[in-house]
Amino acid sequence: MRAEDVSTVAVIGAGLMGHGIAQIFASSNYEVRLLDITDEILAKAIQNVRSNLIMMAQSGLISDEEIDTIMSKITTTTDMNDVKEAQLIIEAVTEDRQLKQNIFERLDNLCPTDTILATNTSVIRITEIAAKARYRERILGTHFWNPPYLVPLVEVIKGDNSSDEIIKETCRVLRSVGKHPVTVMKDVPGFIGNRLQHALWREAISIVANGIADPAAVDDVIKKGLGMRLPVLGPLENADMVGLDLTLAIHEYVLKHIDSSPGPSPLLREKVEKGELGFKTGRGFYTSVSYTHLRAHETSLHLVCRLLLE
Ligand code: NAI
Repeated sequence: MRAEDVSTVAVIGAGLMGHGIAQIFASSNYEVRLLDITDEILAKAIQNVRSNLIMMAQSGLISDEEIDTIMSKITTTTDMNDVKEAQLIIEAVTEDRQLKQNIFERLDNLCPTDTILATNTSVIRITEIAAKARYRERILGTHFWNPPYLVPLVEVIKGDNSSDEIIKETCRVLRSVGKHPVTVMKDVPGFIGNRLQHALWREAISIVANGIADPAAVDDVIKKGLGMRLPVLGPLENADMVGLDLTLAIHEYVLKHIDSSPGPSPLLREKVEKGELGFKTGRGFYTSVSYTHLRAHETSLHLVCRLLLE
């Protein structure tokens, strides 16, 4: 499938990520079919897309007039047969390996052999998700970041059987909707972004578990310090900037003191067992009182996008 032949995109799973991915393509004039298991979930998804667009219009990212045009590009369905005409199908259902395998087996049987089939899995290897399909060369990963309609990055992951052509054409489609695709050449769990992110989270939790600092101090070090560089300076650019000799000297001294455990932290397990799940139960590393400022997160992202566009 060539990028210019893609006019209809289907999104399977209309949750947090699925509705946002549907919005991206509808905003760039693609026809979008959004599928989930019930009409209620789909109605909520449509409502979510509209609220996102209203927020974007309020931030000056789109005009008020564009909202209805974008909404008119999305149709919803609970029937898998309705997605088979799409030239690109992006799966964004619950992160469950077996569920994803079954969906790809079904899509593989249903769709023409050149339909591009992509999964938005966060960490599962693409090759495992494609295991029950016959035409695996057209299956790949497209890992969007939340909120997908604002964050530019999409990791494009090559499964063991994905063709180079499918990777190239999918990157072209993603560029056509204003995304910044980055190709991951080896199908490893966690790809690039989640490996980096969870290496950081493991150390953050370990610092708290070892009484080195409290959660607010750890988060401040990122938000008020090194996080401020990250939008403009990646870690490898930064290493080159400070010098690889200094980087080596630091690693020689400090790496042995950094958490390298192969499993989740006992503190994290303990919190989950106690029902301290964060936002959804009102207590996690913080208590609910501290959550108010986090709710402004998405609005801040809107503002950052606006600044970037200006
Ligand atoms: P979610 O729970 O908000 O949405 C999942 C949706 O899939 C639900 O609406 C559910 O009804 C639907 N679903 C379940 N079984 C289905 C089926 N058989 N057919 C059709 N729809 C079905 O989950 P979320 O957060 O949107 O995650 C979706 C995928 O995206 C997961 O693989 C997740 O790991 C990945 N992801 C999530 C990110 C996040 O920040 N939440 C970021 C990047 C990727």
